[in-house]
Amino acid sequence: AKLWEIPEDAVTWEGGEIRPAGDNAGKFKPMTLADVAKVAGKTGGSIVGVGTGSTANFFIDALGAMRDRIAGAVASSEASAARLCALGIPLLDLNDVTDMPVYVDGADEVTSQLAMIKGGGGALTREKIVGAVARTFVCIADGSKLVATLGRFPLPVEVIPMARAHVARALEALGGRPVLRAGFKTDNGNVILDVHGLSITDPVALETHIDGITGVVTVGLFARRPADILLLGGPDGVAEHRRPGAGLP
Ligand code: A5P
Repeated sequence: AKLWEIPEDAVTWEGGEIRPAGDNAGKFKPMTLADVAKVAGKTGGSIVGVGTGSTANFFIDALGAMRDRIAGAVASSEASAARLCALGIPLLDLNDVTDMPVYVDGADEVTSQLAMIKGGGGALTREKIVGAVARTFVCIADGSKLVATLGRFPLPVEVIPMARAHVARALEALGGRPVLRAGFKTDNGNVILDVHGLSITDPVALETHIDGITGVVTVGLFARRPADILLLGGPDGVAEHRRPGAGLP
């Protein structure tokens, strides 16, 4: 199993740390789970921003085990909101939140500069909004997500439906091959164009450019505001990368 795909019943919460349950002990490194717990633990008493996807789900489950010790959570999607609710974690409206110490989310690709492609699950707009409010953005990912250059993973772009063809032409002019995500609507009622064939050497410039195309709601490049901390899982445990000055609350 990938580090962040360990089933919920394989872990237990003991003495403030997540540990392997039962005979799972030798099957994965407790360090990887402890690191998730460390992030969850450091959120004590505060409002936590919560991402979307299979990796973020793992974090949500860790939060569930300590729900009495956080003030509440802001969700970046309806799916994460439902999961938080099911665990009894109080949900907050972002408009009622003035200070959010930490946002925790996965990524589809991440560079050593902590720029990311996100939106494989289609939640990119709300993820970018909640991430923008947070003081510290923590990305949790397995080692397969680390890349030298972003773009092998098709770049998601959320688009107002009536602008789909116009935006697709503009993305083609950039050298990409936009493909409409079939049968998919975002939580905001929009469509997603997944852009294939880009090699993103200047993610900040491309994010600014695509965000400026009329009809684009959000591009899934997170480079102008990259992660502050990356917890990257690998066979020997979790490597931590920080941007200068970044710290957990
Ligand atoms: C959701 O819209 C995405 O941004 C996810 O954060 C991203 O797709 C990573 O998902 P996994 O953790 O499932 O790989």
